[in-house]
Amino acid sequence: QEPVKIALLGLGTVGRGVYRILTGNAENIAHKVGAPVEISRILVRDLTRDRGIPLDPALLTDNYQDILDDPEIAIVVEVMGGIHPALDYVMAALKRGKSVVTANKDMIALHGKELFATAAASGAGLLFEGSVAGGIPIIRPLKQCLAANRIQEIMGIINGTTNYMLSKMTREGVDFDRALREAQAKGYAEADPTADVEGLDAARKLAILASIAFNSRITLNDVYVEGISKITARDIAYARELNYVIKLLAIAKETPEGIEVRVHPTMIPQNHPLASVNDVFNAIFVRGDAVGDTMFYGRGAGELPTGSAVAADIMDAARHILYKVPGFIGCTCYDEKPIKPMAM
Ligand code: NDP
Ligand code: HSE
Repeated sequence: QEPVKIALLGLGTVGRGVYRILTGNAENIAHKVGAPVEISRILVRDLTRDRGIPLDPALLTDNYQDILDDPEIAIVVEVMGGIHPALDYVMAALKRGKSVVTANKDMIALHGKELFATAAASGAGLLFEGSVAGGIPIIRPLKQCLAANRIQEIMGIINGTTNYMLSKMTREGVDFDRALREAQAKGYAEADPTADVEGLDAARKLAILASIAFNSRITLNDVYVEGISKITARDIAYARELNYVIKLLAIAKETPEGIEVRVHPTMIPQNHPLASVNDVFNAIFVRGDAVGDTMFYGRGAGELPTGSAVAADIMDAARHILYKVPGFIGCTCYDEKPIKPMAM
């Protein structure tokens, strides 16, 4: 079988994880897909930097046109982040009928509607499992496994950086700045970590989850957001005295007044299951009217966990290209439902 050729846009934390998984597990992946998955080009800014992985330098390019114009590249994997030029690159790929896999929650939360419409028009797939909660399967479960339910509530911890920081501050008394530096060094934080600490990253992810769960278009502007930048060591100590811990929670519910979507620090009892979700781990409760309560747990950021989600999307897109697999989740269409105004 001829290989399915792909290009990576970005070779940072997530790109490296994808590269390591696709090359390290190549045989297993080829077996499951039914053909080898071959990385043909990798877009980066700096062609000379040592990437710390065994890599043929001829794969690297700093010119996106090399990828767009290559008819053999069937899947574009956007792991560069930000809106521009990522959005233009993804749009251009979809218009050429190339399927896109992305971990970019900023882009999906802000431009999902146009992107899904473009993908649907060209028949290309647009997959984004890695955009929410790193390695935890949550997009597919919501879109497929729980699809028959009326989803009543989503609640959880969906930012690894802030959970890592709060865990370090709570258990080891580490100060805010050092906890953030450690999260950055581990590759968990966004390029601009303000998005993590001010709750925007969690809010974007919640907008994506709530859009799928409630089949409605929910944007960042609809989400009430408060981050952890005002949480002090004293707040944490007071919470501990009361047998509580502080977590940054993301909550979405369908209420009679509209959809309620909010992200904010919350005191939760130490015996609550979310209280023991620490470090880079995330956890998401989903309540459906038929299934009842479900919980998804795992590493919410980092090279290999996120690479795991992105690589699985690549395999799904490759199978679709090879066999036109039914039930492909690449297409997403939403209604427009009212949002509950939040006064807090
Ligand atoms: P990094 O900053 O580590 O890597 C970004 C990569 O993209 C780098 O290789 C960089 O090139 C390349 N790049 C950026 N801009 C351009 C450009 N204009 N032209 C060419 N190449 C460019 O980011 P991450 O890997 O951490 O994140 C990537 C995406 O994945 C983001 O959308 C992020 O939100 C998302 N994500 C991240 C997770 C994580 O744990 N880090 C988890 C889940 C999602 P160069 O190396 O030459 O500078
Ligand atoms: N900065 C994000 C986080 C990366 O810490 O959760 C994973 O989406």
